[in-house]
Amino acid sequence: MIDLSPQLSRDPRHDPVLRDEVLAALAIAPGERHVDATFGAGGYTRAMLAAGADVIACDRDPDAIAEGQALVAEADGRLTLVHGRFGEIDRLLAERGIDAVDGITFDIGVSSMQLDRDERGFSFQKDGPLDMRMAQEGESAADWLNRADETEIADVLYHYGDERQSRRVARAIVAARPLARTAELATVIRKALRHPPGAPKDPSTKSFQAIRIHINGELDELVAGLAAAERVLRPGGRLAVVSFHSTEDRIVKNFLRERSGGDAAGSRHRPAPTPPARAATFETPARKVRPGKAEEARNPRARSATLRSAVRSGAPAWSVRSADDSTDREAISC
Ligand SMILES: C[S@@+](CC[C@H](N)C(=O)[O-])C[C@H]1O[C@@H](n2cnc3c(N)ncnc32)[C@H](O)[C@@H]1O
Repeated sequence: MIDLSPQLSRDPRHDPVLRDEVLAALAIAPGERHVDATFGAGGYTRAMLAAGADVIACDRDPDAIAEGQALVAEADGRLTLVHGRFGEIDRLLAERGIDAVDGITFDIGVSSMQLDRDERGFSFQKDGPLDMRMAQEGESAADWLNRADETEIADVLYHYGDERQSRRVARAIVAARPLARTAELATVIRKALRHPPGAPKDPSTKSFQAIRIHINGELDELVAGLAAAERVLRPGGRLAVVSFHSTEDRIVKNFLRERSGGDAAGSRHRPAPTPPARAATFETPARKVRPGKAEEARNPRARSATLRSAVRSGAPAWSVRSADDSTDREAISC
């Protein structure tokens, strides 16, 4: 089994948020097959291997897959790394002859590795090309910001970043085009929001997060990933999802509530809806889990993390993969 050396567990790249709580939710028995849908720097994968699981780990970022090869060698045949989107995880597994797994874990969002590298363009604290593409392909943040109209930009900032002054920021971005660097964008946002230099909270945080979520289609991916997890978990299989943003958490919460029949009761103010036609695919989800004070102090990024988990029932999945092999993106209200 893989040993988690104390040195590795102190390194934030190997000390993922809510690791112990995720492991508790997964309740791994040695020899089980688990999916780490968001490999990143491999923190959860290491913990799963150490608990005795065989792991299939996925990431859309080719750098994460390349840098994970050292862990593949260390894992002695118990780790398979797969390059791709977790929205298609059931197809990626089927291509490897796997149709059911004992657990699947999502750690949604951007990795410290991606944030730390100037050239990836994710961070407002570093100057780099305005890129933000996890998969390193498709439209970059600069491409989009330089072509989108003001209303589209404002809507993204408002919905994915909770930026209340989204119209003001969008107007400033459009006036400053063309933009090419993260530092330019951060300066435009700070000026638009009249941020005094040196003030503690940088106002570009929200806009950078919103643009990243948009560029990577992260909310659509989450919806598709949850549906794919439902298809691929065996009865009794465990789902664990860590998210960092209220909209993401709402998607997970609503998915689990719907799929566990939680909407059926109604209330004094809201009559019970007609009973769901389909059987619940998840047993009563666990209460949401938040990091403790010690973890928040050790790792500031943990402050906005929420873990939700649930156990798969034996009922058939509600969604099916369609014949053209694209994922059925069934709407999940949020
Ligand atoms: C928060 S990090 C995961 C960190 C990881 N748990 C660890 O311990 O190092 C999220 C990772 O998921 C990847 N990712 C995000 N969305 C993805 C998607 N739709 N499909 C596959 N990988 C994705 C990112 O590229 C990033 O490497």
